[in-house]
Amino acid sequence: MSDPSQRCTASGHEIPELDPRTRCPQCGGLLEIRHAPPGVSGAALRRLFDERGGGGGTGPHASGVWRFREIVLPTAADAILTYPEGNTPLLARRAVAEWVGAPGLLLKHEGHNPTGSFKDRGMTVGVTQARRVGATAVACASTGNTGAALAAYAALAGLPALVIVPKGQVALGKLAQALAYGARTLVVAGNFDRCLELADQASVELGVYLLNSINPFRLEGQKTIVLEALQQLGWEPPDWIVVPAGNLGNTAAFGKALTEAREWGLVARLPRIAAVQAAGAAPFALSFREGFARRHRVEPRTLATAINVGNPASYDRAVRAIRETDGVVIAVPDDEILEAKAVVDAAGVGCEPASAASVAGARQLIRAGTVRPGDRIVAVLTGHLLKDPAAVTHYHQEIEPPPPRANRPVEIEPRLSDIAKQLTAARLPAS
Ligand code: F0G
Repeated sequence: MSDPSQRCTASGHEIPELDPRTRCPQCGGLLEIRHAPPGVSGAALRRLFDERGGGGGTGPHASGVWRFREIVLPTAADAILTYPEGNTPLLARRAVAEWVGAPGLLLKHEGHNPTGSFKDRGMTVGVTQARRVGATAVACASTGNTGAALAAYAALAGLPALVIVPKGQVALGKLAQALAYGARTLVVAGNFDRCLELADQASVELGVYLLNSINPFRLEGQKTIVLEALQQLGWEPPDWIVVPAGNLGNTAAFGKALTEAREWGLVARLPRIAAVQAAGAAPFALSFREGFARRHRVEPRTLATAINVGNPASYDRAVRAIRETDGVVIAVPDDEILEAKAVVDAAGVGCEPASAASVAGARQLIRAGTVRPGDRIVAVLTGHLLKDPAAVTHYHQEIEPPPPRANRPVEIEPRLSDIAKQLTAARLPAS
């Protein structure tokens, strides 16, 4: 097997695998990892991945990312830096499926990763690559989760880390993680898009290794969300994969994972990707409606802060993912995102607001007739409930009038009779 290379998705220019630049040196375009075909049949690859199991043990194959190393980063060898991560559950929950209107709905819960979001999958590969190229510091801009993951993996690697975040727009759990894991956390009066411009500039001018999803090695790790879901389904693809979309790294990674999986015989057909944006931050959905005639930028505004992105960096790569999988892009309003989140939370699953966009999106697609109720759907929950505790208390305690699913805390006198009264109320079926 020959080494992978990095190829510009705009100009086709290639640079070696160990070149630390994260954009094309000729045109500034985004790079993509080009793998040599694995050289074995799809059946042999499936067997190899299946023999490694679904987690447990020690060493790289205990990771739900490095279990697929031959099609992620085959040359990483001893440089691999893993928590381990991945091995997240694929859940069937009737209450959520009923709300969506699709009995076969499954939830791929990426909140079960070590730092509570899917970003760990990209970061294990990104920080491994940082070590391989001899980086002396790493950096990212973030709406919170990338920063949390970067901070944790930089600590594992012993590398100094800069996390650049938009002031007042990062959920508490995520900010707490970046600080706790020891990243130098830089708060900028501006939105995520401005933070990303700065991080991009810092990587060129100051030589820090950029670990946003612009970095193509991050996407190689994020491909494994799809690979692992396919493996959990016995390599029988679902009809749809629904994913929240912000900076579009995941949408791009999913498209690449799927087209490679078909090319190399892992699966015979492709699921369709449905990328779901928040209505207040939906430039990609706008472009989709125009047949991708042009790229849009918006001033983003959504309660789902993780996807509060107005100028998504991986736009071109994501357009290809949607085209190649006959996918769709939609937008859902914040109140539907919050309702979907309340449903997911009350099912005992829980997720952060941006994650619930996939569930709200699945319902919208069923209602529109784009997705049929009998279709097999995997909706990705990208982050853990505890990432954004303020979103929970806002919904349950602060919104006036209370939304139908609000679960207000009840103040009682310190008496058994008050508890007895509440026990009776708790036993009543929800209206
Ligand atoms: N869901 C969550 C929980 C996220 O944190 C993000 C992105 C997305 C969905 C969207 O994924 O950007 O690949 O389209 N968070 C980034 C961050 C922007 O900085 O943590 P995407």
